Amino acid sequence: MLEAKDLHKAFGEKVALSGVSLKVAPGEIMGFVGANGAGKTTTMRIIMGLLTPDLGTSSWNGAPLNLQQRRRLGYMPEERGLYPKMKVAEQITYFARLRGLSASDAAAAVSRLVGQLSLEGKENTAVEALSLGNQQRVQLAVALVADPVALVLDEPFSGLDPIAVDSLVEVLQARAAEGVAVLFSSHQLELVERICDSVSIISAGQMVTSGPVTQLRAQAERKLKVVVRGAENGWAQGFDGDFTTDADVQTLITVTADDQAVLRSALQAGRVEQFGWLQPSLAEIFREVVA
Ligand SMILES: Nc1ncnc2c1ncn2[C@@H]1O[C@H](COP(=O)(O)OP(=O)(O)OP(=O)(O)O)[C@@H](O)[C@H]1O
Ligand SMILES: [Mg+2]
Repeated sequence: MLEAKDLHKAFGEKVALSGVSLKVAPGEIMGFVGANGAGKTTTMRIIMGLLTPDLGTSSWNGAPLNLQQRRRLGYMPEERGLYPKMKVAEQITYFARLRGLSASDAAAAVSRLVGQLSLEGKENTAVEALSLGNQQRVQLAVALVADPVALVLDEPFSGLDPIAVDSLVEVLQARAAEGVAVLFSSHQLELVERICDSVSIISAGQMVTSGPVTQLRAQAERKLKVVVRGAENGWAQGFDGDFTTDADVQTLITVTADDQAVLRSALQAGRVEQFGWLQPSLAEIFREVVA
């Protein structure tokens, strides 16, 4: 279990984190979301030991993360960390050796990762000559090279085309299935919703909510949607919410607790074509909790 507990961090007067905690279990993919400047990168840098928190701890399986254990974590930094002039295969080999792999294990890891990340034919290309998406793949290869027990990825999907997103998702899901704990930050909420087991939402240096998306949905304000055809105006008066009319079809989206009263009123007014609770999207949950 990768765990950060009650992290606090200030840069001079600027408080970046004030009590951030999160837990990622082996095999779990957790999305880390929050507005620009909310504190995601700072949290990840502290987990990776690149920043020292003013207060709080980060641990793996209950033991505080030290240098030795951090070598077992795979990290994709926000600022990226590749050597632009180094060739792809050299680069991955270099980081593999740095992580303590033997020369032959490093070579095996390079050919495996080049295949998994569709970098075939680019082994001898300098990183600076690659497109952004391919540089990102190399960056991921570096994060994966030493068979990490956990992955900490800072916006790994930013700038990727949909095909590259899919192949990255596949790689992450395969690692998670092998028991790797995956934490990644992203602003792509639909993607986060699609692939994550759980989501942590940070706002202004504080964790506002964390849990499986289904659980976040259950906590969110539920909205009832009613569609009525051929009704007189006025049936929806008295119910809070949005009311729209399109030709003879009227739609009410309301947060009322008394769904039966809404239904009775709608049935009396016209033909009820739709009546049900809406599933809030992660984007809606995000707006609600961050507002
Ligand atoms: N080295 C630093 N010196 C001063 N302030 C910093 C430093 N690093 C981060 N901050 C501040 O801490 C806050 C959190 O920044 P952080 O980079 O963690 O946000 P983030 O959630 O990663 O944002 P983004 O989505 O834009 O990447 C911001 O207000 C930022 O300006
Ligand atoms: Mg960031």
